[in-house]
Amino acid sequence: MQVVKYVFQPHGDERGQLIALEEHADIPFEIKRVYYMYDTAEGVHRGFHAHKELEQILISVHGSCKVLLDNGREKKVVPLERPYEGVYVSSGMWREMYDFSPDAVLLVLASEPYDEADYIRDYDEFLRSVGAKGEDGDE
Ligand code: TYD
Repeated sequence: MQVVKYVFQPHGDERGQLIALEEHADIPFEIKRVYYMYDTAEGVHRGFHAHKELEQILISVHGSCKVLLDNGREKKVVPLERPYEGVYVSSGMWREMYDFSPDAVLLVLASEPYDEADYIRDYDEFLRSVGAKGEDGDE
């Protein structure tokens, strides 16, 4: 399983750093929604879902966290520790976010508005949706 990590170009000078992200140039989709998580309590794991259509890029703009990506056959843990790096999360990818530092701000750029109907929250349903598990429960 190929993890697609982005390293964005900081426009740095003696004043500090600035990163600009434009849809289709830096981000491979139209950005229809932006949300972020902060003040995440210690030990919390979030996510536990996949999306039918939605694509996302996750950026830890402050602090750090880990993202577990699972395509139904393979799992990869991606640490997000720098404000200039992001990880692409395609549709059909189960994700869990955890190990948030107390100061973590996890920014998410999303290709679609919020739509509960696009979520797959049941892991067995997810496995079936990606063809990793038969209807009868076979692997
Ligand atoms: P939730 O789906 O639990 O976040 P995650 O699974 O990524 O940890 O979302 C928390 C709440 O925020 C839930 O009530 C739905 C709401 N929400 C929105 O209203 N819009 C959004 O874009 C998102 C991502 C969540």
